Amino acid sequence: MSSLFTPLQLGAIILPNRILMAPLTRARAGREGVPNDLMARYYAQRAGAGLIISEATGISREGLGWPDAPGLWNRDQVDGWKKVAAAVHKEGGRIVAQLWHMGRVVHSDLGGGQPVSASATTAPDFAHTYEGKKPYEQARALTQADIDRILDDYATAARNAIEAGFDGVQIHGANGYLVDQFLRDSANFRDDDYGGSIANRLRFVRRVLEAVGGAIGMDRVGIRFSPNILVQGVEDSEPVALYTELARLLEELQVPWIELREPYKPTSSGSIPTAPVSPAMRPHYSGKIVINSDHDWADARVRIQAGTADAVSIGRLFIANPDLVTRIALDAPLNTGDQKSFYFGGAEGYVDYPFLTERVAA
Ligand SMILES: Cc1cc2nc3c(=O)[nH]c(=O)nc-3n(C[C@H](O)[C@H](O)[C@H](O)COP(=O)(O)O)c2cc1C
Repeated sequence: MSSLFTPLQLGAIILPNRILMAPLTRARAGREGVPNDLMARYYAQRAGAGLIISEATGISREGLGWPDAPGLWNRDQVDGWKKVAAAVHKEGGRIVAQLWHMGRVVHSDLGGGQPVSASATTAPDFAHTYEGKKPYEQARALTQADIDRILDDYATAARNAIEAGFDGVQIHGANGYLVDQFLRDSANFRDDDYGGSIANRLRFVRRVLEAVGGAIGMDRVGIRFSPNILVQGVEDSEPVALYTELARLLEELQVPWIELREPYKPTSSGSIPTAPVSPAMRPHYSGKIVINSDHDWADARVRIQAGTADAVSIGRLFIANPDLVTRIALDAPLNTGDQKSFYFGGAEGYVDYPFLTERVAA
């Protein structure tokens, strides 16, 4: 049997296979960010994944800048997510919530006030708003009191996730959002103890992990990074040194698993990746490493067998193939995704991709 189908333990969560569903923003939660029955159906259809990582989910109004994306800061949102987690568990699956603060890439039109970040910077390109794309606004540099408030928001959202029935959380530390804005030196120009040296730039993520781990137990916490790409204007001049030090921190804090988005081809947004950084992290981190981006089963299997990765997460193919794990096991043909409905719409292009059985019967 392929190593992709060997069970895997990520802290308190036991996975029956090593094919995870990567976090995928699908923007079906409405303006109040409240998960609904349609979302419960979508996630339940994908319960065959070793673990579902939810779409990025705002920890606060301030931190959520994607139209129709969900949140986890109020009662209605917790109640909405209860339906999703229950539906996934009923189908035998497992699901963690990806906790999101977008930092400087939130537009004030979304209702959270002036965007905030490690430093007073402006992201390149355009923000998504309900009235279409608008240029990003200059962020306000967070004070230390603001940082303490945001740590509380992370802890509360993590507690809310557990109350909603999630099996754990994943902190979004990738893709140019707030954690990444603190980590990497193209966005962090602070001169206090959150900026400058690598040790200082790691302080925010350390405190987020401590806050979330303290709230729900570190055995229910994972974190995602994107070490080798420029995303939303965020990159680092010394990625190997930064992420090696980060690996030591994750080891010290006993974070049980990390997911690394490490493309090895140009990404859909045109970003040209540098060499993967995960080989430099592996010797310093004994937790589980989930690799992501453009992987096929053959290369994921090779990485797992070589011990450079423990599991793979798949994004776009999980949109189009709710039963992706079965299809991989059977080497069956795959549905193609419709990109037009990736980030917009209702049921179409969301819950209507055929299962293998429907295809065979047709
Ligand atoms: C429609 C769409 C939505 C995405 N939303 C998120 C998200 O909410 N959080 C996140 O960390 N990455 C997000 N990503 C990135 C994916 O998780 C993944 O890293 C990327 O698709 C590469 O993996 P793949 O080649 O298996 O698709 C998104 C990607 C797509 C295509």
